[in-house]
Amino acid sequence: MTQEITPPSPAPVAPPPVRDWPALDLEGTVFDPVLAELMREGPLTRVRLPYGEGWAWLATRWDDVKLITNDPRFSRAEVTRRQVTRMAPNFAPRPGSLAWADQPDHNRLRKPVAGAFTVSAVKRLRPRAQEILDELVDGLLRDGPPADLVARVLEPFPLGVVCEVMGVPAEDRPRVRAWTREIVSTNGAEAAGRAKDALYGWITATVRARADGAGEDVYAMLGRAVANGEISEEEAVGLAGPLQIGGEAVTHNCGQMLFLLLTRPELMARMRERPEERGAVLDELLRWIPHRSSVGLARIALEDVELHGIRIAAGDPVYVSYLAANRDPDVFPDPDVIDPDRDAGAHLAFGNGPHYCTGAVLARLLAELLTGTLLDRLPGLRLAVPPEQVAWRRRTMIRGPRTLPVAW
Ligand code: HEM
Repeated sequence: MTQEITPPSPAPVAPPPVRDWPALDLEGTVFDPVLAELMREGPLTRVRLPYGEGWAWLATRWDDVKLITNDPRFSRAEVTRRQVTRMAPNFAPRPGSLAWADQPDHNRLRKPVAGAFTVSAVKRLRPRAQEILDELVDGLLRDGPPADLVARVLEPFPLGVVCEVMGVPAEDRPRVRAWTREIVSTNGAEAAGRAKDALYGWITATVRARADGAGEDVYAMLGRAVANGEISEEEAVGLAGPLQIGGEAVTHNCGQMLFLLLTRPELMARMRERPEERGAVLDELLRWIPHRSSVGLARIALEDVELHGIRIAAGDPVYVSYLAANRDPDVFPDPDVIDPDRDAGAHLAFGNGPHYCTGAVLARLLAELLTGTLLDRLPGLRLAVPPEQVAWRRRTMIRGPRTLPVAW
């Protein structure tokens, strides 16, 4: 006689302890040691960040990050109704912001501006972007070394190109640039708040003024979408803000990229000797660069989800770390090594799923032009100070050098 045996149900895995994750001012391109520890502790850990309330789950493995960021059971909109533990002191999400929208709103909001960020739109932009960059490099060559690469090129170049994409009228560019600089600076919350109010006031007036929708720039697209009733004026303003200041990410990410090239001669030599492989090396650098401090924006589980035997309960906040996923040894063997020969194409530096970076194609173009043009036009490019004297941004979300003194 056979006896039916019911397999015992697996013992529930106890939730991991809650770890404090302070905001660290890290030097150079060093990887956050707290994140490294959390990655060792398990695929799913629990963290408490400096602001907000309670704790949140943290997923660090590449496949979990891919899953969570592409699963509608995890909501962004829900976060706006809560005080989730977070990295930023202030939390004031605006209507229209892509980052906080779930489907179908996210698609409705993205649609009016998507055309400005496609592969073909960015391809059309290339000659104008190269022109803007060449003018800045002409200035460097005219004035001679030494120069601060951040102030002279890394900051004005993405800002200028983004103004072009957005359709900022020439006479308004100095104001828009000054506000953007203040918002992303580390001069303090008050000054940044004033600049933000001024920029959003200007954006509101601009969206209104472009109601005729003539042109292919982003403000024309937004003016048209408001006039057609696809989005509200408030949403158009909330959409435009992050795009208008989006160039900041390029300034700091490319700042880290150039620092790495200037301090690792073998990488620099590789870029110079095999220009056809520059794209692949840039991908490896995007994978490796610790782009931000701590983690970005949370999601909230809308229902119970089981992962690795652990139950994430409905209502629990969840963070993913793209930085950690990019160092997952199962996907990128020997992940802490910058290996220009590896295929880094699966990196998540621009995120994943519906919230994948709107500006990714543009950011790649800017990174490619920046590194290529600087290497080609300044063959003797080198740091003008010892690497340990390069000053890094402090108390900031996006990491990068504050100044990059170079000679050539
Ligand atoms: C979102 C990275 C440049 C606009 C994101 C996300 C990442 C990212 C990781 C978040 C994905 C998520 O929320 O899960 C980067 C990097 C850049 C860069 C590494 C440069 C090297 C830009 C540029 C723009 C831009 C140039 C625009 C001009 C945006 C917007 C979002 C976003 C609007 C929100 C998208 C959404 O939630 O649907 N980016 N970004 N980014 N990025 Fe970028």
